[in-house]
Amino acid sequence: MSNTASQPLLGLGVVGLHEGTTMLVAASTRTTHIRAVAGCDTNPDKIASARTRCPQVWFTDDYAAMLDRDDVDVVSIFTPDELHGRQIVQAFEAGKHVICTKPIVNTIEDAQRVLQASKTTGRRLLVGQSTRFFESFACQRADFEQGAVGELELVDAHYTHRMDWFYDKSPWAVNTTDWVFLGLSHPVDLIRWYLGPIASVHALGTRTALARRYGVAGFDLYTVNFTAADGRIGRCMGNYGLHELPRARNAIELMLYGSAGSSLAQYHDMRYLCTKPDGTECLQDMLYAKREYYFNNEVHGMHYGEFANYADSFARGILADHPCSPELEEGIETFIVMEAIRQSAADGGRVIEIAPLLKQIF
Ligand SMILES: NC(=O)c1ccc[n+]([C@@H]2O[C@H](COP(=O)([O-])OP(=O)(O)OC[C@H]3O[C@@H](n4cnc5c(N)ncnc54)[C@H](O)[C@@H]3O)[C@@H](O)[C@H]2O)c1
Repeated sequence: MSNTASQPLLGLGVVGLHEGTTMLVAASTRTTHIRAVAGCDTNPDKIASARTRCPQVWFTDDYAAMLDRDDVDVVSIFTPDELHGRQIVQAFEAGKHVICTKPIVNTIEDAQRVLQASKTTGRRLLVGQSTRFFESFACQRADFEQGAVGELELVDAHYTHRMDWFYDKSPWAVNTTDWVFLGLSHPVDLIRWYLGPIASVHALGTRTALARRYGVAGFDLYTVNFTAADGRIGRCMGNYGLHELPRARNAIELMLYGSAGSSLAQYHDMRYLCTKPDGTECLQDMLYAKREYYFNNEVHGMHYGEFANYADSFARGILADHPCSPELEEGIETFIVMEAIRQSAADGGRVIEIAPLLKQIF
């Protein structure tokens, strides 16, 4: 950690330099309490490309060497899903706090190991649930917390995206994880954020023609019904083999229906729609005002602003010793909901209770 006269800054080291390069740039250009100091990837081409964008950063192909550095306070993990558990434990054991992209883990065994390592080392972890930190979703949350929708009665979310480009770029997605952990983690986290603890899920899944063409091991199309511990309900959908129709549906949408009003947040369009108490429908379109910050003026879909927002939020939480969200225990509860969805869909839609799965970990 370095101290300037005005404010302390934490140092950030990023492992996995594809989407992780976005984090390096975000933490070099947008953050106030944390700044990028190190980057790591086993692929020299990824390092060369990241170096051109962040020449002030120190790079290595050796994760242990990055963990050895005193100027790295927080490690941000952007490697393939199945590596997250092991790399989190290594970072905790090296005395680092961790920001792990979604999903934190994709097996119950890794969830157990990560939780145990956090307890032993006292290190903290923030899950990089980027959608929560996107402008339109943050506006929706602020209004919700002011009571704008009244009593929440239904939460409806989806994330849809055709993924042939992703299989070509990241072949590990075909058979070392599942879309319930990759893509569906966005709407599942949003539903958990609003409904609180989930009691049970009922899910259906299938493989699209695209998934069959690529030989994807699990389902790439899910529909899910949720019952919260307090009895409220939600539903979500994820489709990773569709033909996109963005004028009809944004990639990610979160609809809240409440006793006093309704609201909708959208990604990529960065629109927030809500009802006012007299029934007027209001639309805030933030795309042109905020596109440089969130998209770096690139094509929709980059995550500069969201990554900067959550990295800064976590840094402020560490420096002031106050809690953040979603931290490790909440993230593991959400992982368990995803695992229950996977089990339910694999079993033809059997209702899966969350409590017995949580008992395997907590
Ligand atoms: N919205 C979001 O928050 C968001 C968006 C995209 C991806 N992700 C997540 O980020 C992670 C990575 O996705 P991606 O699209 O960047 O994948 P990718 O396959 O494009 O990149 C992974 C990188 O990790 C590197 N790598 C692999 N093993 C390594 C190791 N042992 N040590 C160091 N580097 C290693 C690879 O060389 C590659 O550059 C996934 O978990 C994904 O779910 C999150």
